[in-house]
Amino acid sequence: MIDDDPLFDDVRFHITNESLDKIMAGMHPQDGQRFLAVCGSGDVSIALSEFGEVVSFDNNEAQIAYAEIHKQILAQGDFYHFLDPEFYLPTELVQSRSKYFEKRLPFLQHSVQRVSFTLGDINTLPVEGYFDSIYLSNILSYRQNKYSFKQKNALLRRCRKMLRKNGILYLTDGNSIQTKFLTRMKLEIDRNLTEQGAYENRRYLPSVLRAIGELQ
Ligand SMILES: C[S@@+](CC[C@H](N)C(=O)[O-])C[C@H]1O[C@@H](n2cnc3c(N)ncnc32)[C@H](O)[C@@H]1O
Repeated sequence: MIDDDPLFDDVRFHITNESLDKIMAGMHPQDGQRFLAVCGSGDVSIALSEFGEVVSFDNNEAQIAYAEIHKQILAQGDFYHFLDPEFYLPTELVQSRSKYFEKRLPFLQHSVQRVSFTLGDINTLPVEGYFDSIYLSNILSYRQNKYSFKQKNALLRRCRKMLRKNGILYLTDGNSIQTKFLTRMKLEIDRNLTEQGAYENRRYLPSVLRAIGELQ
């Protein structure tokens, strides 16, 4: 299991470090939509499966393997182990995650099959078709990435190209974007959803961007 395999030493996110309620409020997912989501712990991807197909990616092999195990645990109906993170984590995080998941588990047990976990970097990920929403958690400001402004803009443009009209790009690290380039990328900040997705203590500053018009 997880404790015996050295691969899992590289897992950095055992459960989501963000609020599922806030992310769902900011992404405003609708039934039948298609999502692209960074994996991390896999929690957000699994939560999104309530609404539709989820392509979940991460460039850390351990995160993908860990999330895949959680998917199997949930699909088997082992809710106890799905909710129990097995490691010491701040109680507040564990409780808010459990509160979000508990009432949805009987449905998620089945819908989790709509999540596919893929090892890959967002800059080169081969994806087919378009998405209604894309969830990027801290990728722009992820310490190991060390992206320049140019690289951040190229990444935003790539995501924009994968979005359907009116689609949503939810960035947890919304404060690291250069808003002056958004118009050119046919993206605009959806202030209403950004406000709904924001945390009271402003620990995370998400920006919810909306795809507008046609990208040249
Ligand atoms: C802050 S964590 C996500 C935490 C998330 N809130 C959760 O539910 O666990 C960011 C994840 O992005 C992954 N990541 C960072 N840069 C990436 C990139 N360029 N392509 C793919 N994945 C990346 C990291 O390996 C990490 O698992």
